[in-house]
Amino acid sequence: MELGFSIGVGGASKGATALLDASVEDVQRHFARELHDQVGQALTAIKIDIARTEQGLAPNQTDLLERLRRARKGAEETLEIIRRLSMLLRPSMLDDLGLSAALSWYIKQFAASTTIRVSVNDDGSADLLPDAHKTSLYRIVQESLTNCARHSEARSVVVKLASEEGRYIVCIVDDGKGFVPTHEGRGIGLIGIEERVAEMKGIFKLSSLPGTGTKLYISIPLDGIGEIDGGEAGEALAQPT
Ligand SMILES: Nc1ncnc2c1ncn2[C@@H]1O[C@H](COP(=O)(O)OP(=O)(O)OP(=O)(O)O)[C@@H](O)[C@H]1O
Ligand SMILES: [Mg+2]
Repeated sequence: MELGFSIGVGGASKGATALLDASVEDVQRHFARELHDQVGQALTAIKIDIARTEQGLAPNQTDLLERLRRARKGAEETLEIIRRLSMLLRPSMLDDLGLSAALSWYIKQFAASTTIRVSVNDDGSADLLPDAHKTSLYRIVQESLTNCARHSEARSVVVKLASEEGRYIVCIVDDGKGFVPTHEGRGIGLIGIEERVAEMKGIFKLSSLPGTGTKLYISIPLDGIGEIDGGEAGEALAQPT
C-alpha cells in the first residue's frame, strides 16, 4: 500500500515546476518510508534482541552487560535520528490536506484494494493536533488497517476519529476472527503503535478475542500534557476484553 500521492501538487495546470516538485516529493516520500519502515523496524528488532540477550545474562557478567547496554543505547539513539529524519522527509500530504483528508484518501485506497468495507466516522477535529501527532496517528491507522487486511479476515472495519473531553480518540474496530493478544505475540507493528502512543503521552488499549473481532482504542491528550499509562497499555495486550 502506497502512502504517497501527488494530488494538488502535480496537476497539469501547474506546469513543469509542479511536476518537478511532485517527483522530488515522490523521492522524499520513498526515502521517508524506507527509512521509517525498513531501517526503523530493523533497528527496533535489534533493540529487542539486545534487550532479550541482556535479560538472559547472569548479573555477574558485568562486562558483557555493559557492552550490551551501550549497544542498546546506540540502537535507541540511531532510531531517534531515523525518526527525526523521516519526519523531516515525510510527505507534505498531511501539511497540504490535513490529517482527516489524508486518512480519508488512504482509507479509500485501502478499501479499493481489499474486500474489506471501511466506514469512517470523523468529526474533522484532527487539525487541533500538533504535526508530529498527525504523522504518528496516520501511521497508526495505516498499521491497524494493514493488520486487518493481513490477519483479521474481517468483512468490515469502522474507524472513528473524534475529540472528546480534551482528548483525541482513534478507534479501529474490525469484525474479523480476532486473536488472543499477548505481550510476547506483539510484532513490530503493535510495538510501534505502543511506542508512538507513549510518545504522545496517550493510552492504547487493544481488545480482541477469537471469534469477536479486534478493537484498537487510542486516546491522546489534546493539551499535550498527560500521564503515560504504560500499565494499561501493557495489560490490555495481556488481558483481552
Ligand atoms: N486485526 C487483527 N486481527 C487478527 N489478528 C491480528 C490483528 N492485528 C494483529 N493481529 C495478530 O497480532 C500479531 C502481531 O501484530 P503486529 O502488527 O505486531 O505484527 P505483524 O502484523 O505480524 O508484523 P509487522 O511487524 O510487520 O506488523 C499478528 O501477527 C496477528 O497474529
Ligand atoms: Mg502488523
